[in-house]
Amino acid sequence: MALIDLRSDTVTQPTEAMREAMARAEVDDDGLGRDPTTRRLEEMAAAMLGKEAGLFVVSGTASNLVALLAVAPERGIVLAHQLSHILRAEMGGLGTLAGLFSTAIPGERGTMDLDILRAEIHPKLALGTLPTALIEVETTHNFSGGHALPLDHLAAVHGIGEEFGIPVHMDGARIFNAAVALGVPAREIAQYADTVGFCLSKGLSAPVGSVLCGPAAVIERARLLRRMIGGTLRQSGILAAAGIVALEQMVDRLAEDHANARRLAQGLHAVHPGIVDPANVETNIVMLNLAKSGRSSAWFAAGFERHGIRARGNDTPHMRMVTHRQIARADVDGALDVFAALWNEAKVAA
Ligand SMILES: Cc1ncc(COP(=O)(O)O)c(C=O)c1O
Repeated sequence: MALIDLRSDTVTQPTEAMREAMARAEVDDDGLGRDPTTRRLEEMAAAMLGKEAGLFVVSGTASNLVALLAVAPERGIVLAHQLSHILRAEMGGLGTLAGLFSTAIPGERGTMDLDILRAEIHPKLALGTLPTALIEVETTHNFSGGHALPLDHLAAVHGIGEEFGIPVHMDGARIFNAAVALGVPAREIAQYADTVGFCLSKGLSAPVGSVLCGPAAVIERARLLRRMIGGTLRQSGILAAAGIVALEQMVDRLAEDHANARRLAQGLHAVHPGIVDPANVETNIVMLNLAKSGRSSAWFAAGFERHGIRARGNDTPHMRMVTHRQIARADVDGALDVFAALWNEAKVAA
């Protein structure tokens, strides 16, 4: 049986079309601003997001960091959801590298409680209070199970930013998943942020890269600051060429990943309703609660591995599974069969 890899959508392999485009990409030195393929990708990405300019960066983390460096005044406070990737999973670059502080805003499924957000805004430096530098939103929201934040919520957050003159940065690592789930073009989501970063290397299947999009002046500043973090690449057109194929060919098919994630969630729910509520699965991420089995997610991951299925486990009962281009409907069914057997084994042993 071929390997079924549910660890992440970052495991996706480049397509044949990507490999061919990479092999024949026209390149030059992007550090000197001359790589034509990288420029094409940046322009294409900016157009798709309705922004003036784009900047190719190596990763989603780099795109968030460069945005912070370019937009947020040092020693300011970033307001972000308490489960945001930027606060939870980017190694504190916000503080260490950008000299910023943060306040975590609570809220349901990746949305921020708007009253708390508003109450946490301090437009000016005052005695004992640092000024708010930036509001960060994330969609789809990874640690909330891939929730595509509703447009009216994004509009409200953006409105608060405008009211106080605070820029909004969107971590749109999976913005195209959000667009497909909401049935709108990505630019309709991106309009509610000043800067937006998205990943080419997740569900879109490119091997490397993200693009940060925003106003031309901000992106020019970000281009200079990208160098500071060692992110200026040379013949980056080799990588950008795959990104162009990703944007041309890989966006619409994300709907298949969403359908497979729903199927997975429905199957898991049938094993035990406490594992996941399929109604919460809108995109390609499924969050499992395995508590009722009495086993950790690491125990399930080890069991899966014996059947050629990869999933990430730890010592908690929580597990995240992600569908992507290399997960077919039959793979979902195969994983469900193994899961049901493991669940029974856990119950018998308990
Ligand atoms: C929401 C979100 N933002 C940012 C990132 C970081 O992307 P990268 O791994 O390319 O640095 C991820 C990665 O999973 C993510 O899920």
